[in-house]
Amino acid sequence: MVTMSDWIRVENVMQFIEADIRKKTLLKFLKAHHPSTYWHSLRVAYLSLMLARSYAMSEDELERLFCSTLLHDIGKVSVPVEVLNKPGKLSEENWAHLHKHPENGAKLMIQVFANDGVDLDVIRLHHENWNGSGYPFGKKGQNLSLAVRIVRVVDSFDSMTHRRAYNRPKSARDAIQELHAMSDTHYDFDVVRRLHRLFMEHSQDIHGLEHQFNILEAG
Ligand SMILES: [Fe+2]
Repeated sequence: MVTMSDWIRVENVMQFIEADIRKKTLLKFLKAHHPSTYWHSLRVAYLSLMLARSYAMSEDELERLFCSTLLHDIGKVSVPVEVLNKPGKLSEENWAHLHKHPENGAKLMIQVFANDGVDLDVIRLHHENWNGSGYPFGKKGQNLSLAVRIVRVVDSFDSMTHRRAYNRPKSARDAIQELHAMSDTHYDFDVVRRLHRLFMEHSQDIHGLEHQFNILEAG
């Protein structure tokens, strides 16, 4: 049996989704609503898992983190596609929609999963910043769990390195530099440092997996 500690293949990610009708259905819904958020979610989940493995987390904690990260943006099904795809500046009304996605996602997760195998904080708090300047609650620093701090960093990294309606992709190197520059304001310094180290030590694995995701996304 493949465990969370040795996962690295795209097939394992897909098998994990297929094995649970709740995850499968929610992700199918997300993919239909906004395909790029679906692919973003898969990449953020696998990279968060790889990063979380550098901390002393149990198999159960890793699985909860992986499952919650796969669905961290599920609340975006409540955000109109025109807002998600808007290339220019967002209006106040657009921001209001977008700022609700963590809480809407958590509400949806409670309905579907109750508390079964998910960490609702990952969904509710994944846009909170280290210094309290994030949303929706302005929580800060050590009030955010390690899982939340990991997903915050990886979510931003993936958004920086892949094309979005509002930005051009940066190289991994530039994105890591930017994360370092924003450590202690937006991000947990130690998580950024470990992401940097992961890239130095496992760049081939990470690029290989990226490549496999790109093939699936193109198909
Ligand atoms: Fe999000």
